[in-house]
Amino acid sequence: MNLLETAKLTKYFGDTHAVDKVDFTIGEGEVLSLIGSNGAGKTSLVNLISGLILPDSGQIRFRGEDITKENVHARIKAGIARSFQIVNLFDELTLLDNVALSIFSREGMTRRLFSLADRQQAVWQEAHDILRQFGLELKAEVLAGGISQGERKLLDVAVAYALKPRLLFLDEPTSGVSTREKAPIMDVISSIVRAQKITAVVIEHDMDIIFKYSDRIVVMHQGEILASGAPEAIRNDERVKDAVFGPTHA
Ligand SMILES: Nc1ncnc2c1ncn2[C@@H]1O[C@H](COP(=O)(O)OP(=O)(O)O)[C@@H](O)[C@H]1O
Ligand SMILES: [Mg+2]
Repeated sequence: MNLLETAKLTKYFGDTHAVDKVDFTIGEGEVLSLIGSNGAGKTSLVNLISGLILPDSGQIRFRGEDITKENVHARIKAGIARSFQIVNLFDELTLLDNVALSIFSREGMTRRLFSLADRQQAVWQEAHDILRQFGLELKAEVLAGGISQGERKLLDVAVAYALKPRLLFLDEPTSGVSTREKAPIMDVISSIVRAQKITAVVIEHDMDIIFKYSDRIVVMHQGEILASGAPEAIRNDERVKDAVFGPTHA
């Protein structure tokens, strides 16, 4: 059974067919890249699946359950988390606080008692562990507003990861960082995702990164899925080349 399936999922903004009758599936444990030119509908598809926007029509099933009408919190509780193209952090809080807040919200949702001192201690311990996994432990007490763009992108992924998702969406985890920083960021994220066997969908533009880290690539174009396949097949697909890399689609 697929971990997630959408059926004819559709969202229009006025005349813009942002997501148009999309059948998208992801299997348990897959690491998938979602590609397509600007405006192809990638972020809208992720917003629909994570519950930030509701579809005009169509269905979303997660682990066999229809979640089409569930709110964001219900979806997080079910195991869907995401990071943002533009990071979504509390700049005036420390890195440690940002991660701990995410853990507290997760624990709150599972209705465990975290008023107990030892329970709180466990949360701070876990937050430290997560920062260590992401290579951010030395900045635990620094304010999130005061770290580099690359570190902010990593922290945003760490905050989503702290929700312990089964399915993690990463919307352009290396956007806005220098070319030099991209591979190290993806190395960190990829090693965590693979080690924890998290199913992941990564929106990315850098082709070297996409081909290096993906099991499968899904190509969106004008709100539709144009192609889906192994990296090699996608690399050699003429329609993909025209739509994603062609001269009229910068
Ligand atoms: N909230 C919105 N209101 C109006 N149009 C939107 C909104 N969000 C996205 N769009 C439009 O939907 C299309 C798909 O956008 P988006 O999903 O952000 O694409 P991508 O992430 O692939 O660049 C674009 O034409 C965009 O302008
Ligand atoms: Mg986008």
